[in-house]
Amino acid sequence: MRRSVVAGNWKMHGSSSMIEDLVKALADSVSADACDVIVSPSFPYLPLVQQLAAGTGIGLAGQNCSAHSQGAHTGEVAADMLRDIGCDWVILGHSERRQAGETDQEVAAKAVAARSAGLKPILCVGETLEQRQAGDAVAIVTGQLEALVADLADGDMIAYEPVWAIGTGETATPEQAQEMHGEIRAFLAERQPALAEATRLLYGGSVKADNASALFAEEDIDGGLVGGASLKADDFAAIVRAAS
Ligand code: PGA
Repeated sequence: MRRSVVAGNWKMHGSSSMIEDLVKALADSVSADACDVIVSPSFPYLPLVQQLAAGTGIGLAGQNCSAHSQGAHTGEVAADMLRDIGCDWVILGHSERRQAGETDQEVAAKAVAARSAGLKPILCVGETLEQRQAGDAVAIVTGQLEALVADLADGDMIAYEPVWAIGTGETATPEQAQEMHGEIRAFLAERQPALAEATRLLYGGSVKADNASALFAEEDIDGGLVGGASLKADDFAAIVRAAS
């Protein structure tokens, strides 16, 4: 039985006061008993969130990390720094980073660095609308996974986030999402049989309070990676309840 998880990707949003209000509201309204709840603020706010969320069971994720260990890499953040300030997780390979030029190989190298620092990667994959319309969605997603699967480890999560559904209000239907999650699990069963059943597969792309239950009811959807709706405490709490 896989434990459900809801992760909030706050992207490059917020300020100290906005995040303080949000975390206080989440601490009052979100229960992390029945499922894992993770939030991922921008780097500067990680310590603030860590302090405010202490004792709530809400976990912390970085939105990215360097593939390098500490050294002369101006502007980068090392995985062991994220671990040091209380992160358990790191989102890697988000489509917004891939669109800015991050390659499968870079995502794979970051995942290796993350694991060796004791972080668990949330590995994002997903196709664009053009790729889906061309009938290439499964090939694209399994191609992205190909770079990651050899080093996949116990505790890693995979987030299927169709690019056409991110921030657009357009959600994959539960059937479309399940179809891809089924493909991903079948791919894992072939390539990493010992991890296929236990690896949690999250859906991301316009998850909202009113579509979360139907998505999470699907067999291979173990939770969600939530962008926009994770910035509203009531909506995020409702999504957590749907997963619990
Ligand atoms: P969205 O973002 O929920 O706003 O579509 C999801 C994500 O990018 O992780």
